[in-house]
Amino acid sequence: MTTHQSVMPQEVIEYLDVHSNAEYIDCTLGGAGHTTMILERNGPKGRVLGIDANPDALAQAAIHLKEYGRRVVLAQGNFRDVVSLATRHGFGQVDGVLYDLGLSMDLLKSSGRGFSFQVDEPLDMRLDPEQDLTASDIVNSWKEKEIADAIYQYGEERASRRIANAIVLTRRKKRLETTFDLVTVIESVLSRHGKSHPATKTFQALRMVVNDELGVLQRSMEDLPQILHKGSRVVFLTFHSLEDRIVKNVFRDWGKEKRATVLTKKVIVPTRQEILKNSPSRSAKLRAIEWL
Ligand SMILES: C[S@@+](CC[C@H](N)C(=O)[O-])C[C@H]1O[C@@H](n2cnc3c(N)ncnc32)[C@H](O)[C@@H]1O
Repeated sequence: MTTHQSVMPQEVIEYLDVHSNAEYIDCTLGGAGHTTMILERNGPKGRVLGIDANPDALAQAAIHLKEYGRRVVLAQGNFRDVVSLATRHGFGQVDGVLYDLGLSMDLLKSSGRGFSFQVDEPLDMRLDPEQDLTASDIVNSWKEKEIADAIYQYGEERASRRIANAIVLTRRKKRLETTFDLVTVIESVLSRHGKSHPATKTFQALRMVVNDELGVLQRSMEDLPQILHKGSRVVFLTFHSLEDRIVKNVFRDWGKEKRATVLTKKVIVPTRQEILKNSPSRSAKLRAIEWL
């Protein structure tokens, strides 16, 4: 059972302009919270294509969404391929597309693939288990400088060089096979004080590299216009400054080229009440456009 709480649900529905019989793509289906809200509002004939790279997320969502029958179509895949997934599943140009780039930690904690530093699992971190590169490949075979740069760039971790050095010294004696192997190395460099766990930034960086999260986002946005028509809405929820910058810049360029109207001149953030109820929402940023 997923306990993930959808972030900025009302704002997402408003900016997607969800209406009767309209068609939407949820590029990050997850626990299907946003998709359920869309399906509650786009009846009686509107449909949603729900995409997720993680087969476990899709299997759970399928159970929750059963009552909507053929109004919901589920597709396992990466939103990098949003256009081909849409075509393959009978969706042409759609009325709205949603990307929620947050993490569903409850799903990830039970994935068996090492996303969380709180559970001892193999160091894998692939959202899509079919893909090649794993977190173990990075820490056990990349050069020290490459590891340090990745941890610094994607995790904004100031101790990146010391962590990379400790990883390389450790792996000379024994490969790092599990999340706890890596946590032990990080804790030998960084002590446990402050609000977040010392492994937080390194784990985030590895996850982003393994899943090429920024490259995938860029590629998806390049292709997206092919499935938009006049009036289509696109809504992004981002949780990381590097992701937000990509979305902001692409939207700004579309605006300048008169391909889209940017609906969020000022980025939308959760209310204080939402942050109090759902603390992972605190770093969320919502941006939206309407296609011209
Ligand atoms: C935060 S959850 C989505 C939660 C959902 N909006 C809700 O309200 O329940 C993000 C989901 O996106 C999926 N995901 C992340 N990157 C992806 C990608 N590149 N392609 C497809 N799915 C992806 C993850 O597997 C995860 O299930």
